[in-house]
Amino acid sequence: MLPTIEWKGRHIRMIDQRKLPAKVEWVVCKSDRDVVKAIKSMVIRGAPAIGVAAAMGLSLSAEAIQADAYDTFARRFRESASRMLKARPTAVNLRWAVERMTLLVERMAGRDPEEIRIALREESEKILSEDVEINRKIGEHGQSIVPRKAVILTHCNAGSLATGGYGTALGVIRAAHEAGKKIEVIADETRPWLQGLRLTAFELMEDGIPVTVIADNAAGSLMRQGKVDLVITGADRIAANGDVANKIGTYQVAVLARENKIPFYVAAPLSTIDLRIPSGERIPVEERDATEISHFRKIRVGPPGVKIFNPAFDVTPGRYVAGIITEKGIVRAPYPKQIKKLFKNGCHLVEGIEKV
Ligand code: MRU
Repeated sequence: MLPTIEWKGRHIRMIDQRKLPAKVEWVVCKSDRDVVKAIKSMVIRGAPAIGVAAAMGLSLSAEAIQADAYDTFARRFRESASRMLKARPTAVNLRWAVERMTLLVERMAGRDPEEIRIALREESEKILSEDVEINRKIGEHGQSIVPRKAVILTHCNAGSLATGGYGTALGVIRAAHEAGKKIEVIADETRPWLQGLRLTAFELMEDGIPVTVIADNAAGSLMRQGKVDLVITGADRIAANGDVANKIGTYQVAVLARENKIPFYVAAPLSTIDLRIPSGERIPVEERDATEISHFRKIRVGPPGVKIFNPAFDVTPGRYVAGIITEKGIVRAPYPKQIKKLFKNGCHLVEGIEKV
């Protein structure tokens, strides 16, 4: 699989996911502002990938800050961090990465900015490589719940492209496939950005994993006909009570899975769990531009002036979730208690600052 994002000397290169699979093009980011723009405009998307991009973007920012004194450097770094935080609101991995980088700057208080720049670059490289390792662990744990022969439905793209590599939901599917299980995937097309059709199908076909794409509104009918054994999706943010924010349409898939007695699993790293948010109602849901619905590839398909509502995510209550597959294992209900157990020393997001 092509690398989603990587360092190329002093710049960052990311694959332009808006163009896939028709064209494989790269976007080069030379500044933190370029990275913010890339995240906002969906060049790079998917919760863990956004987190990795934010960390790398802050390293670029540190390189550009012209300050010899720690205080000036730290102040300008914090300004850049707060711009980065605003790039997209729902995926908490972005905040997690920004806080991890900011914490590093705070821990190095009083040190030479040049030393801090080096440490930030290394930290961003670590965040990227750790993410791939984490996904492999999610895959190992998750494949244990996949039968030897299974049709798995997934929504959106929680694959290599949505992460540093390998994927979360697709990581589980890949691990099951690598373990010799006979896996077939049904990918919801995922309107309006078509992450399922363009990205999930593309990734799985490259790996030789059989995939069939359906219109989003076909999922219920297929489940009712007994054509789906298991649902696995990724997540953008998981509240402390196990409520899951993911791509718009996930909620209806989860409800339909319950109605048809099909287990609905979520695969996500700990960096997607937000212990500060007690339940899903508090998760900020991004609303995107109306033209994503009214237009198709810049061609207007809706009547001019039509009122559009375009939430990019929805929240699935934890009661629909059979298990959350993390790098530490599979968490099951009761979620508030079990999720808390995952984090030994309080909240990992701001370790040492905030205790839960
Ligand atoms: O708008 P996107 O494409 O960034 O939304 C992505 C999703 O909803 C994914 O399912 C989620 O981030 C999990 S990615 C491992």
